[in-house]
Amino acid sequence: MSRRLAALIPFYEFDEAQFFRADNAPDEVAASRRAGFTRLAQHYQQRFAKTRALTTEVRDSLSDLQFTSTYRVPFQFSRVVRENLSAGSFLQSSSGVTLTDLDGNTFYDLTGSYGVNVFGYDFYKACMETGARRVQDLGPVLGAFHPVLAYNVERLTQISGLDEVSFHMSGTEAVMQAVRLARYHTRRTHLVRFCGAYHGWWGDVQPGVGNPLPARETYTLKEMSADTLHVLRTRRDIACVLVNPLQALHPNASAPADSALVDSSRGAHFDRQAYTAWLQELRKVCDARGIVLIFDEVFVGFRLAPGGAQEYFGVRADLVTYGKTLGGGLPIGVVCGRKHLMKRYRDDRPVDVCFARGTFNSHPYVMGAMHEFLRRLDDADIRAVYDNLDEVWNERARGLNQRLRDEGLPVQVANLSSIWTVTYTQPSRYNWMLQYYLRAEGLALSWIGTGRLIFSLNYTDADFQAVADCFVAAARTMHQDGWWWADASGRAKPIKRLILQEMARHVFAGRPRQAASAA
Ligand SMILES: Cc1ncc(COP(=O)(O)O)c(C=O)c1O
Repeated sequence: MSRRLAALIPFYEFDEAQFFRADNAPDEVAASRRAGFTRLAQHYQQRFAKTRALTTEVRDSLSDLQFTSTYRVPFQFSRVVRENLSAGSFLQSSSGVTLTDLDGNTFYDLTGSYGVNVFGYDFYKACMETGARRVQDLGPVLGAFHPVLAYNVERLTQISGLDEVSFHMSGTEAVMQAVRLARYHTRRTHLVRFCGAYHGWWGDVQPGVGNPLPARETYTLKEMSADTLHVLRTRRDIACVLVNPLQALHPNASAPADSALVDSSRGAHFDRQAYTAWLQELRKVCDARGIVLIFDEVFVGFRLAPGGAQEYFGVRADLVTYGKTLGGGLPIGVVCGRKHLMKRYRDDRPVDVCFARGTFNSHPYVMGAMHEFLRRLDDADIRAVYDNLDEVWNERARGLNQRLRDEGLPVQVANLSSIWTVTYTQPSRYNWMLQYYLRAEGLALSWIGTGRLIFSLNYTDADFQAVADCFVAAARTMHQDGWWWADASGRAKPIKRLILQEMARHVFAGRPRQAASAA
């Protein structure tokens, strides 16, 4: 359905005049926005000159960059924003909780490197350096293992509480392998994933927009729903249920990218008790039906607790995937699982095997960095960051929300520990502008913008206060510049209606042209 809808939405974009009053704001508001935008554009041009120049140089030959720079904001605004508010995509260095670009600008890092950065970049630099020294005599030899692997296996079985481990090159591959094993051992075809949950970019776990083919052996079900439990209780073709515990922050919603932030309907709220109860229900029904319960902890593993989501929610899975941070700064995917599920052959059918390979699996340098990561997990300073972890981050979120409320700014944050989402409290078509004001204040966000702020756990109270000051200052300036002007009704509906009307106009305007070109 979502793929069909996506195919119907026509491209159109706003010209300079429409750009500032896409919500039919009055002229004086549009003028104030234009002035703010011009000021910001000048700031970006001066401050990020070198970083932008290199970005422009490679953009036409780097597909990834073209995609991310196009999809930072809703497509109607994208070109004008890209041409004026690019901060560039290169960085020179990292230190503490900051990143420095090619122009020497230093930013607080809220990108978290897609979640890899749990303990601070210096921690990973040390893991990579020490790990590399440990394995350098073996170098890039593959197939046989460096001895550091033995320690990694031992630690991972302890941490996961599971019997066996397999190493892969990315989180996507770990998920592929976990699902393949579940299908092999249950002799059933289908996987269950939940609405909005990301499990990497493999076709079977990404059945909607973004995958040109339909995923035929995937059921996408509603999370925290009795209907889902009913499906699991009654269908006979379900091999496994994939859970991404990050969804606890926004069950059934996709990763909250600013490109989809067309009004203010983004919501997020983490209820630990309710999500724990849901996982317990899933555990029960999977046990009763012989379905393999897979926790995909590629994102949250080691971030919520040393033992990951299993420990945090107190529910055990049959297979667990890890990735990101566990590589100690290098690429990784790991599956941990119960013995009978990890086995790749059948004793009674020697030719019926479950194949899994990968040239670079167990690469000595990755194993070296992981060894260091796992070793350092026991250090007192690392153990200490887990003390009162939720209290610390909940209190920081609460404090920031209070400041935003006190200033009458229509912005709030919701958090699952150190993973945050920005939400907007009044209807607006321009919320995505906040990411550009934040950057100007010295906060670096990933390309999906304000939907995902990821803090590393080495943020001190002072670091956080500096971030909060920047955040409030950015929202204040954006407010003063008029981007949050609201239609008198104060409802979101007029914005949605406006967008639908725009799209309909462009669909109909496009028809004769298509017919003419077909003729
Ligand atoms: C929960 C989850 N699973 C799997 C993946 C895919 O991992 P990778 O990008 O290493 O392939 C991700 C990546 O963000 C993820 O968050």
